[in-house]
Amino acid sequence: MDDTRQQREHRATRIRSIGTSVFAEMSALARQYNAVNLGQGFPDFDGPLEIRQAAADAIMAGRNQYAISHGETPLREAIAAHALRFHGQKLDPNTEITATSGATEALFCSALAFIEPGDEVIVFQPAYDSYVPSIRMAGGVPVAVTLHAPEFRFDPGELRAAFTQRTRVIYINTPHNPSGTVFTREELELIASLCREHDVLAITDEVYEHIVFTGNTHHRLATLPDMWERTLTISSGGKSFSLTGWKVGWGIGPAPLMNALRSTHQFAVFAGTTPVQHAIAQALHLPDTYYAELAADYQARRDFLCDALAAAGLAPRVPEGSYFILANIESTPFATGLEFSRHLVREAGVASIPLDSFYLDPSHGEKYVRFCFCKRWETLEAGAARLKSMG
Ligand SMILES: Cc1ncc(COP(=O)(O)O)c(C=O)c1O
Repeated sequence: MDDTRQQREHRATRIRSIGTSVFAEMSALARQYNAVNLGQGFPDFDGPLEIRQAAADAIMAGRNQYAISHGETPLREAIAAHALRFHGQKLDPNTEITATSGATEALFCSALAFIEPGDEVIVFQPAYDSYVPSIRMAGGVPVAVTLHAPEFRFDPGELRAAFTQRTRVIYINTPHNPSGTVFTREELELIASLCREHDVLAITDEVYEHIVFTGNTHHRLATLPDMWERTLTISSGGKSFSLTGWKVGWGIGPAPLMNALRSTHQFAVFAGTTPVQHAIAQALHLPDTYYAELAADYQARRDFLCDALAAAGLAPRVPEGSYFILANIESTPFATGLEFSRHLVREAGVASIPLDSFYLDPSHGEKYVRFCFCKRWETLEAGAARLKSMG
């Protein structure tokens, strides 16, 4: 063997900028220091017993072969009934709904379905971590519009200026991860008018649609005037039913958009997982009280963790929705959220996520870290006690 020969770079150019995520680093540190993990954004408890039972029943009843590619019929019918109940939308389950492997697959397949190389794509930053890599892998050029601290809202002038002749798509995430901002009707109306004016497609990520706190309302962009034809709405069952590992998501939109999404979906995964699609269908029919209790329960946990963070001198941004809290670290001796998060996990045994990785320009997020409160009370109480001990 000629070991002086240069090893070929096997990775495609389109993925070379993708490194190991800070989530992986913080999870590894959390394990190493046996930390209370308030970093990872998923519940440490299970979803409703009857829904888990429904999945087990579906397996035992023989729902074990490939699902219909665009989703099992009961699931699409349940998504339609849910959209009518909560958003007043009348959807055709055959042509206007596509089930996917979580919202993540819907987001990725949408990027491939709608973005041409060179297209500009607007994203609000901080941005959920899958958007920018998906846009780039599709050949698009992400254009950031900042949600400004401390309220994490956009400046209308900056949004207007971000729209150009090359803008093809805008991503909207409401309720928003990681800031907890719930876009108001007025904010969505401005986005809608810019989409209409510039003939832009909106992709909305509404996975936290049922985690909205008192005084705030979740509005669906697709239901605003003349927005149905140009909006792809994405959601999933993971957050609403505390079953993130099931990865049952969906896209909703007019038939032409669904056909495009189905084109990429069929060759990415062909179909989602059959038995859990049947169980999530049942979950979507849960009564209004289930959804009200989910939001009220999370609101109590939000208040508890906000108080604990404030007591530790980490000014929290009280979220309007989602299960995340951003905390400002400027009162600490640390220059960046990354340094602070590393210190917190080692010294206090609490894991958090620094915010810089949520920005196109990481320096924007240096003063914030993200905590999440989708955790059992004993986890939150242990986290609060450790934050307190930090002094
Ligand atoms: C904003 C946002 N979108 C999408 C997802 C992923 O959803 P799913 O698990 O359904 O793929 C998450 C999960 O954390 C999220 O926070």
